[in-house]
Amino acid sequence: MSFIVGLRNLFFRVLYRVIRPLIFLMDPEDAHYLFKRVGVFLGSNPLTKSLTSLLFNFEHKSLNTTVDGVEYRNPIGLSAGFDKDGELTSIYPSIGFGLAELGSFTGEVCPGNPGKRLFRMVKSKSILVWYGLNNQGAEKISSRLQGTNFGKLKVGINAAKSNITPEFDLQDSIDDYVKTMRLFKDIGDYYTINISCPNTQDGEPFVDKRNLDALLIAVNQNRVEGRPIYVKLAADMEIEEINTIVDCCVEHKIDGVVLTNLAKPAHNQEYVKEELPFHKGAMSGLPLQRISTDVIRHVYRRTRGELTIIGVGGVFSARDAYEKITSGASLLHMITTMIFDGPQNINEINRGLVKLLKEDGFNSIEEAVGSRNPLPKLKQTPNDTEVKEVA
Ligand SMILES: Cc1cc2nc3c(=O)[nH]c(=O)nc-3n(C[C@H](O)[C@H](O)[C@H](O)COP(=O)(O)O)c2cc1C
Repeated sequence: MSFIVGLRNLFFRVLYRVIRPLIFLMDPEDAHYLFKRVGVFLGSNPLTKSLTSLLFNFEHKSLNTTVDGVEYRNPIGLSAGFDKDGELTSIYPSIGFGLAELGSFTGEVCPGNPGKRLFRMVKSKSILVWYGLNNQGAEKISSRLQGTNFGKLKVGINAAKSNITPEFDLQDSIDDYVKTMRLFKDIGDYYTINISCPNTQDGEPFVDKRNLDALLIAVNQNRVEGRPIYVKLAADMEIEEINTIVDCCVEHKIDGVVLTNLAKPAHNQEYVKEELPFHKGAMSGLPLQRISTDVIRHVYRRTRGELTIIGVGGVFSARDAYEKITSGASLLHMITTMIFDGPQNINEINRGLVKLLKEDGFNSIEEAVGSRNPLPKLKQTPNDTEVKEVA
């Protein structure tokens, strides 16, 4: 069976390679909207959904995984930013996703940044994003999604702060996140608090510990029973900044972190320099691959696995996915591979994961998490109350 699925995926991979140059002739934002319209149509009736499933889905019980009490049929998820208005949830299970993170949603309606705001960097296998959190706003989107049965898809609600003024006001910003959380209190399976959009007018003020403390207190006051809360971090922080944020998450009993958001070109050496099309924005895909895995490895060790990690950034193959899982990620998100390799790659990654788990003798994703990133041993200090890592 797996062999037939492999042949099917190879067929679609070749087909996508043939039509990709035509897709890449379109403006990237227009292409995105066209594919969204196709997705909405395919998800609109049982016949097109079943046909899509037949061509793109893959199931295997070793991929079932439970994270923070939420049961996922597989660990492969759509990352935030593809479905900014939450319009495509009925088609995701048919193309093989176990989860989809919707948004980012903001408390107020957000037009996003003006002008051209998506650019392909083909040699770098990356998308330069200058969207600026465009979305219809939490009120409109939540009232549309209210009461939706997402079936086997698990849904993350990604909340960001409205990008409509250049001034930062702490209380207004916190109220903005909380507004989205409250409007979505009956929708979805987990929340992500996005403190790392690289394209906002007031920067990333929640890297500051006092601001983050205040935000996480408010977020916890609005917790919904059984619904984990994750915080999404930027890709290009200093190690001390990462430590401050993850320690703060542990202190406030946040369930986990999403690692990482887009990479800013000024802090990145992993793209073809001549290809950079615009002086603003941040990059997805390959330039982010190694960096996000390094951050996953670091955070897993620092928190000794206490925080759940959702790994994201440049996952193009089952090996890339497995590297992030064995470094410490329990779930994964992705976007750029769908643009460069085609939608069949979602189930191809799932199929490859089954093989990789088997090769390493694991029966489940849970067993593989962090398996190639062993935690340093702890030793008791003389006063017996503290434990220290042995180098
Ligand atoms: C077009 C686009 C829009 C994005 N918008 C958001 C967003 O609104 N919120 C967010 O948290 N991340 C956003 N991201 C970042 C992704 O969620 C993800 O962290 C990043 O693309 C790395 O994954 P990838 O290499 O698989 O694309 C966006 C990425 C892309 C490509």
